Formats: sequence, C-alpha cells, structure tokens
Amino acid sequence: MSTRIPITSRQGDYDVLIEPGCLRTAAKYIACASQARRVLVVADEQVLAPHAAAVLESLQPDGWEATITTLPAEEPLKRMEAVERIWEAALAGGLDRHSAIIAVGGGLTGDVAGFAAATYLRGIDLVQVPTTLLAMVDASIGGKTGVNLPLPGLSRLGKNLAGAFWPPKLVLVDAETLDTLPLRAFRSGLAECVKHAIISDPDLMCLLEQHAVALREGDRGAIEDILVRSINAKRQIVQEDEREAGCRMLLNLGHTFAHAIEPIKELDLTHGEAVSIGLSAAMTCAERLGLCTADAVNRVRVLLTDLGLPVSIAQHEPAEALCAAMRYDKKVDGDRLRLVLPMQQGACVRDDVAMADIEAAWHSVMPPSSG
Ligand SMILES: NC(=O)c1ccc[n+]([C@@H]2O[C@H](COP(=O)([O-])OP(=O)(O)OC[C@H]3O[C@@H](n4cnc5c(N)ncnc54)[C@H](O)[C@@H]3O)[C@@H](O)[C@H]2O)c1
Repeated sequence: MSTRIPITSRQGDYDVLIEPGCLRTAAKYIACASQARRVLVVADEQVLAPHAAAVLESLQPDGWEATITTLPAEEPLKRMEAVERIWEAALAGGLDRHSAIIAVGGGLTGDVAGFAAATYLRGIDLVQVPTTLLAMVDASIGGKTGVNLPLPGLSRLGKNLAGAFWPPKLVLVDAETLDTLPLRAFRSGLAECVKHAIISDPDLMCLLEQHAVALREGDRGAIEDILVRSINAKRQIVQEDEREAGCRMLLNLGHTFAHAIEPIKELDLTHGEAVSIGLSAAMTCAERLGLCTADAVNRVRVLLTDLGLPVSIAQHEPAEALCAAMRYDKKVDGDRLRLVLPMQQGACVRDDVAMADIEAAWHSVMPPSSG
C-alpha cells in the first residue's frame, strides 16, 4: 500500500511517500521531485548496506551521477566538522547548484546532511530517506536541520543550536528499513509518536495503547497506521507554523527537559528515551499548574512504560543543575524559560512557570532519595 501525504511549505511544497519497498525504486520518485541528476548520498554508516545501497542501485540504470559519503550517527559527532566533511564530499563529487543531497539514515543523518544541503552553494535540493521510526514520524518532516554546539563553561553540547530551515523536496518512508533497526531505537521513535498523540491526536493515543505490548517487542503490525497518523499530526502543525513562531513550539513538548539530560554521557540515553523522560516531567509540571489531572499523568506514564520506554533517570545531576542546563535550550526567550506543557486536551506554551515547579518535575523523574 502506498500513501502520499502532501506538505505545504513557503520554501516549496513536498510529499511524504509511505510505501514498503520504495527505496528500491527511489530514483523514480526522486526524479519527479527534483531536477537534479547529480547527487551525493549521505548515509549513516550503519545503513550503508542494505538501505543506502538500495537507493544507489535504483539510481544506476538511468544515468544518474551519484557518489556516496558516510557519517557515524553519534550525537557527540553531530558537529560542524561533520557538515564540513559533507561539503568536501559534495565538491569532490562535482555537485553544482542543480544537484541534490540524499540523506539516508536516522534523524541525526537527516539533520546534518540537511544542514549541509541548506548551506552548500547557499542551498541545494535535499531528499530525506529516514531509516528510523523517529526520523520517519518527526525529524525528516518540517525542514529543521542542524548540529550541536559546545556550551560555554559546561562540558557538554547544546542540542541543535546551529542550523537552518531547509525543507526537503521529498521524504521517502520505507517501513521495511525498520527490519534492521535495533529494538531500542525502534522504541525511541515511539516516544515521538506519544508526543504527537498528546498534542493533537487522541485516536493515535488509543492506537498506541491498544498495540503497546506488541510494539514494545518491535511488532510492526500496526506501524502503517501509526506512521500515517503521526506524520499527519506533524504535517498539520508545521504547515500552520513553519518557522516556529506559534503552534510549532508545541512539538517541543518534553524536549526542553529532554535536551538537559540527553547529552549527559553517564545516563546513556537515546534522543527518544530522553524525550520519554521529558514527557513524564512535563506531565508532572502541568499537573502542578492545574493544566491536567493526575489520571492524565498516569495514563501517559503507563503508556510509555508499556512501550518499553524509561520514565525516570537512574543516575543524575542535582535538579538545580538540570534546571541550569535547560536555560541553554533554544526555547529560552531572554531570561524566560518557555515550556510546552500538556493540557487536558492538547498542549500550551508557558513562560511563567516557577523554578520550584520545574525542580519538582525533575524530582518526579528521579529516585525518591535523590536530587
Ligand atoms: N529535525 C527535526 O525536526 C528533529 C526532530 C526530532 C529529532 N531530531 C534529531 O534526530 C536525532 C535522533 O534521531 P534518531 O533517533 O533517528 O537517531 P539516529 O539517527 O542517531 O539513529 C539511531 C541509531 O540507529 C542506527 N540506525 C538508523 N537507521 C537504522 C536502520 N534502519 N537499521 C539499523 N540501524 C539504524 C543509527 O546508526 C544509530 O545508531 C537527534 O539528533 C535529534 O536531535 C531532529
């Protein structure tokens, strides 16, 4: 079955094509979306074979000029150096202003390759070929690209602090690529689906609850429905507010908390796991402010747990240090920390949350004796 979800963008409309096996016929779809016939495939080194190889193979018969470069999908290496290496590979491959970059990999690859596409020769076409659930439902859609920057005075990186809005010409979602995805990474993607469900799709929440136990074990029986619902949730928001001046901020639900813990090496959290803990903390914060009930908090925590996702951190820095790290998030406006918080229905942005409530939210995701 093939589903095409059109996305409107001020920088050019594009489609998300969801079709099992579409990587093997990628060239056909890319040819309709971009004029480019000289391309650089930027592949996560873990998916060089079979996924990037399938895309390359599809390009061969029709006389495309394609070169490939790989990058390791490691968050500490999501830095400008990685972008520079892609620029150099683009130059070596002879890419001009009418060429394209095809990103094959998870969200990290899409973000870095996307930023390289946005900046090489002041911007060339980009095609996103997400190979993780997280990238399929979230990172590949909406045009955000970027890299991490070292934080001044702190021995950690700030997430995605340099970047550009650069929508792709096409997103090719082939759920068969999830066959090779480790279970932990698959579950991580489910955290973003839960986020979309909380923000705008109660039916998606029910679907996730109904299939939670199977999904937790990597069963993909319901994945087509989940992909379509979750991508549609993201589509609605990015179409309404492409540049994050308003409702797109809601997509950061859980992320201001998550970004404070994701870079802590000792915690060893994937992005999706950090988001899961961040969602839990945000729920508690919302309950303290009377925005949602204890039952709603419990429902989300139970779902995340059923999906095999963490809702607390075992080892941590003091809550005050995590609050300090949150100040480096992009959602800070001057001195005000802007937090996205769930409500009984949907979510809202608040910049008046007392530090005591944020600290209490951190304590709610820490072991009882600590903090
Ligand atoms: N641009 C956005 O709007 C946006 C949104 C959400 C997240 N992000 C970014 O996305 C990144 C997280 O994305 P992610 O969870 O996809 O992580 P990732 O890209 O780091 O991939 C996770 C792991 O899975 C491996 N992998 C990827 N596809 C595979 C496959 N099919 N088979 C086997 N292994 C595979 C990777 O090598 C990596 O080890 C973060 O850097 C985050 O900041 C961006």
